[in-house]
Amino acid sequence: MPYTFTKSSELFNRAQHSIAGGVNSGIRKLEQPVPLYFAKGDGPRCWDVDGNEYLDYQLGQGALLYGHAPAGLAAAIAAQAKLGLHWAAQCELECEVAERLVKMIPSVELVRFNNCATEAVMAAFRLARATTGRQLILRFEGHYHGWGDEGLIGFANPPASWTDSDELPRTHPSKGYIPEVADHFVVAHWNDVEHLRRCVDRHKGEIAAIIFEPALCNTCCIEPVKGFLQTVRELCDRDGIMMISDETITGFRFGGACAQGYYGYKPDLTILGKAIGGGTPFAAIGGTKAAMAKIISGESIHAGTLNGNPLCLAASKWCLDQIIARGDTLPVSTNALGRKLMAGLTALAAKHNIPFAPQGPGLAFHTVMPKPGAATGPVMNYREYVTRHDAPRWAHLRRCLLEEGVRAIERGLWSISLAHTEADIDETLRRAAPAFARHAAEYKPAA
Ligand SMILES: Cc1ncc(COP(=O)(O)O)c(C=O)c1O
Repeated sequence: MPYTFTKSSELFNRAQHSIAGGVNSGIRKLEQPVPLYFAKGDGPRCWDVDGNEYLDYQLGQGALLYGHAPAGLAAAIAAQAKLGLHWAAQCELECEVAERLVKMIPSVELVRFNNCATEAVMAAFRLARATTGRQLILRFEGHYHGWGDEGLIGFANPPASWTDSDELPRTHPSKGYIPEVADHFVVAHWNDVEHLRRCVDRHKGEIAAIIFEPALCNTCCIEPVKGFLQTVRELCDRDGIMMISDETITGFRFGGACAQGYYGYKPDLTILGKAIGGGTPFAAIGGTKAAMAKIISGESIHAGTLNGNPLCLAASKWCLDQIIARGDTLPVSTNALGRKLMAGLTALAAKHNIPFAPQGPGLAFHTVMPKPGAATGPVMNYREYVTRHDAPRWAHLRRCLLEEGVRAIERGLWSISLAHTEADIDETLRRAAPAFARHAAEYKPAA
């Protein structure tokens, strides 16, 4: 049966009258042919209100590392709901979750909880400035650190802003941000050690922190080149800069010790989000005792009515126990499934002469569709991605996949959950086959 989206379309039209723009997060509007309304999920699958079933690789933008609605997680939340929804005070669960985090992530000696990673990033920037007495934050082009004024500076510098200058632009994609915020940022090229060194040297004694996504999942799933993160650590040690590892996506997906364990480095501060709560609104900032000192003293304010909410804590405790139980098999197993899927999709593309070059470790990957004549080989940074990836072509293929019951993130990122099996990957490839055939037959590049 071809997929139709009548009920989602009706609900989206209805929502226009009560929800600004019909969605509660701006990017959800991008979903084609219409922002979908979901009815239920189970493991790697979810169903929309029209009854369409999807093998899901969007996974709540990565939060659902354990799949949809795991029974144990639902039970943990339900049990806590009977005891109390919210204290705005302490409960033993927060010690239990914090103790697990401290055990799992060697660089994390202390944590504080938040409701979303945007807040945790905000806390980290404030803490770094309070600790070092410096103002500048160095960040990398294409890395996303939440939707606040600070998190978006230089995230998506449009090609029209690119120049030959060694100082990269500090554009902000939103109207209404405080323009002076940009003065507190330095933007560097990801994976370019020499550029990074020049940026740090040019602003010697002024940089409070360097923040990064350890694997650049928000732009093309670009892993760090060998030694890059170790160079960041070396420069931070040399110049008294705090190293902030934003593990909102990579946290636990890359194993119990997160991407910092996977790639082998030790940051001062870590941002955790998404998988720490398994789909509940939960996040954390963690760090060494020294790095967290100004939060302990209260000089750097960290607060929030719903911080350490017991429902989220109950969920997080269950989630972390899943990761602990898997030990070293994670991320080996998810990487293997992801690589199988990448290889299968690549074979389908080759069959139809579709330009296709997925990249990423497997547990997450990005489906790059090279433009005609684009350079080949792995994409190494944001500008190469913007220059080489054919976004309209991907949008068409994504829609063909969606209509066969395979759902990836609109921007091209795919995540593997702990609920996906080999059989799910095989089924995904069976569903993907007609989608690739349809794309090859129908897609016409804009003139
Ligand atoms: C790397 C990274 N940092 C921060 C955030 C912000 O997280 P949240 O949406 O929970 O505020 C995100 C969200 O996608 C992210 O991917």
